[in-house]
Amino acid sequence: MLRRIKPLGWLVILAIMGLFLTGISHLVSGQTQTVANLPNRETDIQLKDKLPSKYPDISMGIEMKVSGAYQIRVQQPSTKSATINDILRNWIDSQKDSFIDQFADTSEDSKEEAPSLKISVITEQIASDSYNFIFTEEESDQRTETKVFTIDVKHERELKLDDILKMDDATVKTLREQMKASLVKQDSSVSDDALDRFFSDPSAWNWAVNQKAFTLYIDDDSTTLKAPIPIESLYLHFTDDIAEIIDMSAEQKQEKNDTIEAEKERIRKEKEQRKEQEKRKAEERAKQQKNSPTHEGKYVALTFDDGPSSDVTPRVLDTLAQHDAKATFFMLGNRVEALPKTAQQVAAAGHEIGNHTVDHADLSTLDPEGIRNEIGQSADSIEQATGIRPYFIRPPYGAFNDAVINDVANQGDTLILWSVDSLDWQSRNANAVISEIQKEITSGAIVLMHDIHPSTADALPQLLDWLESQGYQFVTVSQLLEMEGQNGVGPYYGNVK
Ligand code: NI
Repeated sequence: MLRRIKPLGWLVILAIMGLFLTGISHLVSGQTQTVANLPNRETDIQLKDKLPSKYPDISMGIEMKVSGAYQIRVQQPSTKSATINDILRNWIDSQKDSFIDQFADTSEDSKEEAPSLKISVITEQIASDSYNFIFTEEESDQRTETKVFTIDVKHERELKLDDILKMDDATVKTLREQMKASLVKQDSSVSDDALDRFFSDPSAWNWAVNQKAFTLYIDDDSTTLKAPIPIESLYLHFTDDIAEIIDMSAEQKQEKNDTIEAEKERIRKEKEQRKEQEKRKAEERAKQQKNSPTHEGKYVALTFDDGPSSDVTPRVLDTLAQHDAKATFFMLGNRVEALPKTAQQVAAAGHEIGNHTVDHADLSTLDPEGIRNEIGQSADSIEQATGIRPYFIRPPYGAFNDAVINDVANQGDTLILWSVDSLDWQSRNANAVISEIQKEITSGAIVLMHDIHPSTADALPQLLDWLESQGYQFVTVSQLLEMEGQNGVGPYYGNVK
């Protein structure tokens, strides 16, 4: 509708609106007319006026300008601080300038309708002497952008993000989660790429704050999405000054304190639990390393991954028992959850138990939190079933990176790989398993097998007979490391031929 009105029509409309507005301001303020520049060309009209707002300390400047080439309508709030007014004026001027520059060379005839710039503002009071000025900028009713100034009039300054939030990684993470949730609530979303870009540069954020919400504004194509985050979701991340800045209620202050105290308590408990786990692991390690055979003769650490399984694991245990051999079982957390009794039998027979993640995840593809979950939750399952907190981690597919090593180091664990791959997962053939190991075995080797393939259980009696005939003693991984004089984070592979 508006698009069809030609410049001359605008002129008439603005003239009428101008009379109307100045008339209103007379009625409201009793001041004299403040029309600044009367039209000096047939197609130029400029109008400025100032109206009171619902906040006694804020008045609203209005400026309209129509030339043959463009139209500008601007609202500018005005405070009792000249410094603040300058900040707002500078921003508006720069927006106007860049808009006008765009059309400086455009001749009047080449456009069917004059491009327009409209800057409007919503004023929101934060506390007695502070405000959010939320500007919306529209160009020719197409592109809309938002720019927010958060102003402390009393101290004559813009509030900065650091005044409101402790801008650490945890805060950014929470803001990202909360922004996503807020957009979902509005049936809207932005791509992960757009979020990545947005959260990589907090200095470019548009945000506002009040007693109810901290609001982030994110540009999406031609518009700006608004994501209000409830104040109570951010209690852990606000600065101490926030209470004063947004004039928190007594209830909010109490809630904030309670949330912070609860978080401290949670961290304390987590630390305590970690300490307990470390202690149990250290005791188990000492127990496993005791009874290490002497360095006389040859020794080998047999290891079994991916179990427990209901049929193969008991058969493996039987054969090991017949040879009085101890081995190490790297269990999957979800298998232990499914077969806790079988896991218990392995532990009760005196074998060593290691951790092979919850569900055979490729740890090298996960972020630190994902790595921690895979290893930590699996350790929980194993400890719940067997009473043993595992401290040996075998990464599925042998895949690990620095993030995995960091996690293992943080937890006081050890990364265990292997030096002899029986290839039982590939051959599924007892004779092939035996000959592969016969070919590669050497003293101090760590041998990889799986207690989920029946062919592996089939191979074991003959394999153990042969190894004994060659003078090998069977040791756990702990005993092997102890005998080799190795301790630390690893990764440990065992000896190769
Ligand atoms: Ni595996």
